[in-house]
Amino acid sequence: MNTMIDERRIEVSRLRAATARIVAAMGSDAAETGLVADHLVGSNLVGHDSHGVGMLPAYVRMLREGNLVPNQTLVTVTDAGSVLVFDARRGFGAHMAHEATARAIERARQTGVCALSLRNSAHIGRIGTYGEQAAAAGMAFIAYVNVADHQPIAAPYGCGEPKLGTNPFVTVVPAPGGPVVLDMATTTIAHGKARIARNQGMAVPEGCLIDADGVSTTDPVPMIDRKEGALRTFGLHKGSGLAIMCEIMAGAVAGGQRADEPMRDSIMNSMFAVVIDLAAFGGAAAVGDGVAATRAHVTSARLAPGFETIQLPGDKERAASAGRMRDGIPVDRLTLEQITEAAASLGISASDCAALF
Ligand SMILES: NC(=O)c1ccc[n+]([C@@H]2O[C@H](COP(=O)([O-])OP(=O)(O)OC[C@H]3O[C@@H](n4cnc5c(N)ncnc54)[C@H](O)[C@@H]3O)[C@@H](O)[C@H]2O)c1
Repeated sequence: MNTMIDERRIEVSRLRAATARIVAAMGSDAAETGLVADHLVGSNLVGHDSHGVGMLPAYVRMLREGNLVPNQTLVTVTDAGSVLVFDARRGFGAHMAHEATARAIERARQTGVCALSLRNSAHIGRIGTYGEQAAAAGMAFIAYVNVADHQPIAAPYGCGEPKLGTNPFVTVVPAPGGPVVLDMATTTIAHGKARIARNQGMAVPEGCLIDADGVSTTDPVPMIDRKEGALRTFGLHKGSGLAIMCEIMAGAVAGGQRADEPMRDSIMNSMFAVVIDLAAFGGAAAVGDGVAATRAHVTSARLAPGFETIQLPGDKERAASAGRMRDGIPVDRLTLEQITEAAASLGISASDCAALF
């Protein structure tokens, strides 16, 4: 496999402007365009290229197939004290999840805690973003998310074939110096990371993928090009259990589409989230002191062999963000070609597109 990555570094503001141009051409109004462009470029900025601008071609395909609806509004299914249930009806995910989280934050300010269900949104991207939104308001955030309307790609413990999506789990707590953000797929790697590896001609790490026969492989090409094989859930039966609980909480409990239901080959997310106003739990300052003490305790450990630092969840993304803000965002050549092709299908000419990037 190719070990040289063919990529360009693009300045953050330039990449955001190009992304906004493409999202606007999809039909989004100015407010939605801003939210989607911020979300995608923000994901690249923190190092999660799997959920960055490389999603644009998939979004354009979903739009064309009627599975992503620009400028959608949330339908309120239940509004009862600390319970909010919304149906996003395939709305643009970065908009739908931002709006649902904003409403849950507002409610948690009154009730202390808000249990939020967001059903049936088009792909909501990097879930940690919504936890950071809550943390900025002094609140903690827990989310179980499932992926439906898509051929299953994750093999739970003991399964020789895929049965679920990559079902992310998130917990965010605000703290001095920035929130602690655990934001993870319940597969050993996110599907988008296999796509990026495939586009870069790289292998994925050992233990992440199985092939069509259920045998371990490091080659992402069959999975990305031919939808063969599966991503493995992480952590043996324990990570697999969390993946299954994400499916249950977002599907059976929140009422979103489940992985066993008929699919239209798009990417639909549902989310069960709990937004917790720390003012009702001793106050954000006292919680922050506790988090700082935990950080000091954990990072005071003697380093394990082969490690240079000890990090808390979210530290890696903060470091990536500082570096990419300074040096620009690397986008590989194939991803740029795929975005240009998607833009062309929206009527943005190749020369316009080249000028954008
Ligand atoms: N919308 C969807 O359908 C969907 C599905 C799956 C994943 N996702 C998103 O994909 C993104 C990537 O997920 P992932 O599982 O590949 O992330 P990852 O494996 O890179 O990181 C997972 C978590 O581990 C932490 N971490 C990473 N390295 C660490 C280290 N050395 N020490 C301590 N902590 C460390 C990170 O801060 C993060 O909280 C997430 O933002 C997730 O929300 C979205």
